[in-house]
Amino acid sequence: MTADPRIPHPQWSERLAAEYAELGARLESLLPCLEWPLHLPWIDAIRKLKAQRGAVIMAHSYQSPEIFHGVADVTGDSLALAQAAADTDAELIVLCGVHFMAETAKILAPHRTVLIPDPEAGCSLASSITAADVRRLRARHPGVPVVSYVNTSAAVKAESDACCTSANAVQVVEAMDSDKVIFLPDRYLGAHVAAQTDVELVLWHGACEVHETFTAQQARHARERFQARLAAHPECPPEVLAEADFVGSTSAMGQWLAKERPARVALITECAMADNLQARFPEIEFVRPCNLCPHMKRITLPNIYACLRDLRHEVTVPPAVAARARGALERMLAVGRRERV
Ligand code: 13P
Ligand code: SF4
Repeated sequence: MTADPRIPHPQWSERLAAEYAELGARLESLLPCLEWPLHLPWIDAIRKLKAQRGAVIMAHSYQSPEIFHGVADVTGDSLALAQAAADTDAELIVLCGVHFMAETAKILAPHRTVLIPDPEAGCSLASSITAADVRRLRARHPGVPVVSYVNTSAAVKAESDACCTSANAVQVVEAMDSDKVIFLPDRYLGAHVAAQTDVELVLWHGACEVHETFTAQQARHARERFQARLAAHPECPPEVLAEADFVGSTSAMGQWLAKERPARVALITECAMADNLQARFPEIEFVRPCNLCPHMKRITLPNIYACLRDLRHEVTVPPAVAARARGALERMLAVGRRERV
């Protein structure tokens, strides 16, 4: 963990270890050996500062276990975090995830302050398309509505009719009431959606740099060598999804595990998912592919602490862009409103 040299490193103590014994017991098995004593003082310091500031910490499923279990108040997939941002009463939101998630929170909670611990936490999907690209697509396909995955910038959302996440993409596409929809930017999620609907999709060429590296051979190996069931994120290539027993968003994978309770499972997605779900399902054995999202991993306990202490890295969206992007996000929330998980 890289600490900010300007921040004195909080100290471990026996008293602290006793106070957090329950969390320690839960986390120790999920963390590399000896990390718990390093994380604990930061967790304690962040919890105290969070209470003083009246802040809510929201963490995506791909955040490391010490963040996901140690300091987050709200956890979940992109849809759950968007819903939580729209609903929160807290004046201050710290979004532990990537930049488009913090922008989404700001757009849906315009009167709240939204901070991101590292503003460089990007996403290969969000950077694959610009607002000008969307305008060109519209010009090429006049009258065809545009559905954007939430993994896009606010400027791209502002050019879109509706947003979607991997949890509600089919529903949103079908709610557009059109035979044809421009669906962007993930070509793999797009192909997965296209296979489940009669709506014709015009796709963009974006891909997630983490999920596109999985192969069908790896998936078969996990099943045959370890007798594991397979759950895959729809950002994976189609040949990988074809091997999977279940395809769904990060939260949907948790729901599937709760229902199926397999003895052994391989989660074909970012590797923090397995760590975070292991705490919820201690009886399930997780086969762990280790594909890290380098952007998600820019968020650390020291930079969460620094962001809360200095109220730094505020996320802002120009009001005119935010107003149009909010329309697209609200259309999604109206279609796919569901219980938070
Ligand atoms: P979810 O919508 O499933 O949380 O996925 C977001 C993401 O960035 C996956 O790579
Ligand atoms: Fe973006 Fe992929 Fe990282 Fe998700 S895992 S934030 S889609 S780069």
